[in-house]
Amino acid sequence: MRIGVMTSGGDAPGLNTAIRAAVLRGARDYGDTFVGIVDGWRGLRDGARIELDWRAVRGISKTGGTILGTSRVDPRTEPGGVEAVRQHLRRSGLDALIVIGGESSLSIAHELALGGAPVVGVPTAIDNDMQATDYTFGFDTAVEVATEAIDRLGTTGEAHHRCMIAEVMGRRAGWIALHSGLASAAHAILIPEQPEPLERIAEWMRAPFDRGRSPLIVVAEGFRLADPPGPDRADETDPRPRMGGIGEALAPLIEAHTGIETRATTLGHIQRGGVPSAADRVWATRLGVAAVDAVHDGELGCMVAIRSTSVERVPLAQAIGSVKTVPEARYREARTFFG
Ligand code: F6P
Repeated sequence: MRIGVMTSGGDAPGLNTAIRAAVLRGARDYGDTFVGIVDGWRGLRDGARIELDWRAVRGISKTGGTILGTSRVDPRTEPGGVEAVRQHLRRSGLDALIVIGGESSLSIAHELALGGAPVVGVPTAIDNDMQATDYTFGFDTAVEVATEAIDRLGTTGEAHHRCMIAEVMGRRAGWIALHSGLASAAHAILIPEQPEPLERIAEWMRAPFDRGRSPLIVVAEGFRLADPPGPDRADETDPRPRMGGIGEALAPLIEAHTGIETRATTLGHIQRGGVPSAADRVWATRLGVAAVDAVHDGELGCMVAIRSTSVERVPLAQAIGSVKTVPEARYREARTFFG
């Protein structure tokens, strides 16, 4: 078979690992040849591609980013965009297309599949917010990077007796904040799923400070105060408001409410860059293999998913349309350590 591989949407550590695994699985076990689609859906629309043989994937399993490039181009936003992509796919000579991406990218793949396009999805997102899979590779690495940075904020906060705020990624789900906050023993973990009033957050900061500790907050970029002091920052008309800034917005409010000198740091895209962790390399490898197997089993329109320690196939329809948010029980478990 001749199989296309594409990475689309926000990048994540492990993309190159998955690409390599798919290419080697197909080439060695099925005699497949591969084409890399450049820069996500834009590349399919514009015919930008590279040959993907064993030489192209040599040594990339431990590298960050994606050798194919990616983009957030969404053909659904262009008049006739999906049909144009469908036509390009038909004329491409590809027997199948493996799409590696998050919820938005796989929802495009699903729409193509509904029209009969031969696509298989591989989920990835550092936010770990995809439905129908227990885990998305990139998350473990992002939590490691965030935790290491937050631990560093902790020591400088202790030195200056300051409250330190670390803003992490997570626009609709607070998984990175929850895990990196627990790992770094934060005194408050603020997530989009659980708005909290400013005064309660201030209480959570006063308590450790009164015990002689430097209060530490981990806040997800999508968090909102339950009682915002001013107009909400995100422009609701923008389907993808550029998040970021909640940490800087909270710092003066907490300082004013507590009298504790407060500093904020936004970790931003360092959570998406760099070498994938061992766990993410293993999962990305297994999913790359599983995607090629699904193609050869004719299971098109599915997504390969992680269920406990296994890889299963689920309909793409189950993975899109909503995100997997932090359950109330997980938040209650974490709240034990606030304050
Ligand atoms: O891919 C998800 C994500 O990392 C979000 O956590 C973050 O808000 C967004 O991407 C950033 O998008 P961009 O890289 O396009 O600025």
